[in-house]
Amino acid sequence: MDKFVIRGGNPLVGTVRVSGAKNAALPAMAAAILTEEPVILENIPDVRDIQTERNLLVSMGAEVELGYGRAHHRTTICCKNLVRPEAPYDLVKTMRASTLVLGPLVARFGRARVSLPGGCAIGARPIDLHIKGLEKLGATITQEHGFIEASADRLKGGQIVFDKITVTGTEDLMMAAALAEGETLIENCAREPEVSDLAALLNKMGARIEGAGTSTIRIQGVEKLHGARHRIIPDRIETGTFVVAAALTGGDLIVANCDPRHVGAVLQKVQECGVKIRANGDSVRVMGDNPLTAADLSTEEFPGFPTDMQAQYMALATQAEGASIITENIFENRFMHAQELVRMGANIKVEGRRAIVRGTTPLSAAAVQCSDLRASASLVLGALVADGESIIDRVYHIDRGYERIEEKLRSVGAQIRRIGEMLPKRAPAPLAAV
Ligand code: EPZ
Repeated sequence: MDKFVIRGGNPLVGTVRVSGAKNAALPAMAAAILTEEPVILENIPDVRDIQTERNLLVSMGAEVELGYGRAHHRTTICCKNLVRPEAPYDLVKTMRASTLVLGPLVARFGRARVSLPGGCAIGARPIDLHIKGLEKLGATITQEHGFIEASADRLKGGQIVFDKITVTGTEDLMMAAALAEGETLIENCAREPEVSDLAALLNKMGARIEGAGTSTIRIQGVEKLHGARHRIIPDRIETGTFVVAAALTGGDLIVANCDPRHVGAVLQKVQECGVKIRANGDSVRVMGDNPLTAADLSTEEFPGFPTDMQAQYMALATQAEGASIITENIFENRFMHAQELVRMGANIKVEGRRAIVRGTTPLSAAAVQCSDLRASASLVLGALVADGESIIDRVYHIDRGYERIEEKLRSVGAQIRRIGEMLPKRAPAPLAAV
């Protein structure tokens, strides 16, 4: 298992480029199931979750082709010969977004068998809303031996009102409804940019979707979809992570190749902490030379402050003067990073869904462990300002969603390197017999 070794203290200075959004790329790849023609996706990030999704599609019989050289962020998917509409446990357990194939499979093939994901490090994360929605579109769904089996002759348009806002639930049902007979109206939808990006791709494929990006989406089902070429939007969470990294280290960083409109709440919050931000076109300049002041934060659905940036913000709050109350409203167990930041010297008290961070506390280097993707990012940020050399273990979590983060951070001045498993220099001496 790889680790990062990080020596803190360097401000981040220069320009860093943001990759394509993992959470937009995953549904876009699943959308390729809806047609027998090739779907060409540009700006696909080279991260572990994408590799998992490629493996999933290939295991079902899809042809997946990766671009070479300068085109290595292009993936072409052709689901003409897809023969096994099944997502096995081994893949779903490592990546919950695998459930995104459920809607497209049942819509195009009339059947799907997808492993139930089970709980995960950040909460219970059920998929009941995906299931209820598909039932509304006429699918018959049974659960047996840890699998969901869905079948339908042809899905029929219907009216779906989500009890709770769900990002992948909205995406899954939008894909299913695209091939259903008649009109579907989905209410209380997620408004995340990833949902709008998926709708843009589906419409290029011949779907008739209106309202994506608002809470009501209307879909006129069509008989067939065709191939398309689409460029994935920049990753707003990677953007936010670099913004916070620059603010935290007192750097002067240009975060390039991003969409500032997708990170409004994050930019507003770091400005509230005293950081100077200049956003224009497709870049954000962060000038973090002021002392940081504490600001409270509540995670919300888009356009609110994203839960996927809460852990990184907590690292920033340890270096802000005063108390910051951080409330996590989306997931019930998303404070695993707090304990590790405390091991580095932070003063954080977690009470249910709230964490109270008191700063400024100097952080000191420590050996810490990643528990999930964004928690890992928060530990990397903490280590960038810690005194001494930190060792971050289990970085496979960060590799799920950040493309070569260590190379990007090193290019703007961070002292960070990746190492493999550390083995003892020599075998321990045998214990003396007593
Ligand atoms: C997406 O997960 C993202 N993943 C997550 O990113 C992100 O944290 C989350 O949205 C919230 O923004 C992808 O897009 C692949 P939800 P998703 O369904 O869709 C409850 C990251 O770090 N719920 O919007 O799975 C659920 O438990 C990841 O990149 C139900 O109760 O999240 C949660 O409390 C992690 N029943 C809330 O809704 C359901 O059927 C929102 O979850 C579905 C969800």
